[in-house]
Amino acid sequence: MKKLSQAPAPIGIFDSGYGGLTIFDKIRELLPQYDYIYLGDNARNPYGTRSFDIVYEFTLQAVNKLFELGCHLVILACNTASAKALRTIQMNDLPLLDPNRRVLGVIRPTVEQIGYLTKTRHVGIMATSGTIKSDSYPMEIHKLFPDIQVSGEACPMWVPLVENNEADGLGADYFVRKNLDNLMAKDPMIDSIILGCTHYPLLLNKIKRFVPDGVTIVSQGEYVASSLKDYLYRHPEMDEKCTKNGKAQFYTTEAEDKFSESASIFLNYPVTVQRIDLT
Ligand code: DGL
Repeated sequence: MKKLSQAPAPIGIFDSGYGGLTIFDKIRELLPQYDYIYLGDNARNPYGTRSFDIVYEFTLQAVNKLFELGCHLVILACNTASAKALRTIQMNDLPLLDPNRRVLGVIRPTVEQIGYLTKTRHVGIMATSGTIKSDSYPMEIHKLFPDIQVSGEACPMWVPLVENNEADGLGADYFVRKNLDNLMAKDPMIDSIILGCTHYPLLLNKIKRFVPDGVTIVSQGEYVASSLKDYLYRHPEMDEKCTKNGKAQFYTTEAEDKFSESASIFLNYPVTVQRIDLT
């Protein structure tokens, strides 16, 4: 591990691939004055079907890289990494790496809102197999709202559909409808569904088309962004360490041209990206 710089630096945003760009987009919309470094581990994506140990190992490598690039604050803009790696990194790794740096996830900010959104107290989670198997959502929801009944549905085809630019294609209709029907069959009382994967907002139009009337779809980006704003307000010592020139840099572990092409699907504007090695 290299010696970490203490100079102010951009906020780091990490995802296994492109999905975190939906979170980055909302963060930048709310907090345009800050600088950001986005890192996508596209070469090793998807994480959703990988084991706990591997997701933890890859996520820690990414966090280390963002720290080496100077970041003091890193957002895991990936539910799978937040579910499988965040707690261990916060409890075991941060005290050794640098106790003053911080890593935050996307599950808690989403869960904090859900108790105010559901009226029936029956909530659905759609996420990767890894996030569903981790039970992170039910556990976090029950810490804050023990009365809420939570049902989960793994949607293993949704990430590949988005990554392959098929989110608007006919094939996506089949899988979106199938997983929504499965979830609603598990609990017809569900009135709010959390999209617990940062890729899924790209499927929002289709999801809204097939979801039963009266069911609210909860997309995370805005909640994560306002939670970060609140965090920076409550932690002026961290805010001082975040540079503010309104700039964003992008890194990927895959080929640069592939990232630039696909990133524009998520962001609607072209980005310049640099390849980086995490190992
Ligand atoms: N974007 C990741 C998440 O939010 C999932 C993508 C993957 O499977 O790597 O869970």
